[in-house]
Amino acid sequence: MLIGEKVRLRGYKEEDIQLAYEYMNDPEVILNLSTGVPYPVTLEMEKQWFESQKEMKNTYNFAIEALEEGIYIGGCGINTLDLKNGVAIVGIFIGHEEYRGKGYGTDAMKVLIDFIFNQINVNKVQLNVFGFNERAIKSYKKSGFVEEGRIRQRLFRNGKYQDQIVMGILRDEYFGKYIKAMKS
Ligand SMILES: CC(C)(COP(=O)(O)OP(=O)(O)OC[C@H]1O[C@@H](n2cnc3c(N)ncnc32)[C@H](O)[C@@H]1OP(=O)(O)O)[C@@H](O)C(=O)NCCC(=O)NCCS
Repeated sequence: MLIGEKVRLRGYKEEDIQLAYEYMNDPEVILNLSTGVPYPVTLEMEKQWFESQKEMKNTYNFAIEALEEGIYIGGCGINTLDLKNGVAIVGIFIGHEEYRGKGYGTDAMKVLIDFIFNQINVNKVQLNVFGFNERAIKSYKKSGFVEEGRIRQRLFRNGKYQDQIVMGILRDEYFGKYIKAMKS
């Protein structure tokens, strides 16, 4: 169910904490994931995050594992599940440098979307991405997301005011694309 061509999504384990801590301090991750001050995460903070997941409602996080090597390379999941309106807001990071730019993140996102539309009664999967994150934007377009809006100068990063882009994919679009691909 949660297996793609290159990755599998699984639950987080205690053994992942050390790597998760290292990944969260990788500049590519810190600078692309949050609008906040890019401040280092401590091992203690990462442990607290791990513990907090046990109590979380409407949040579903998966560890991304490279299928062949069986190693934990990043994470993805639903940050907010709005069941009243049928919207799942998702996020993703590949923390292991050697696995970025090789299709692992794109594959993980495809597995996540497939899981969401087949197992959760939502109409839309949505995400936010910074305007300068070309790799992420390309990756999301490959998974079927389209740009829905641009929040101008939403964040200050690397000395400039930068845009944030909202992208989304609708249930009909997802299954439309699926059915078309199966027929061709
Ligand atoms: C964003 C991310 C999930 C994308 O996953 P990925 O597996 O690395 O992406 P892919 O390898 O499939 O690359 C997607 C596209 O971007 C292109 N690309 C790769 N590296 C690139 C780079 N440095 N700059 C611009 N484009 C790049 C690829 O060529 C590919 O396009 P193509 O298929 O037309 O050739 C992953 O790189 C990542 O986690 N980055 C750090 C954290 C982050 O940015 N998270 C997202 C926050 S919204």
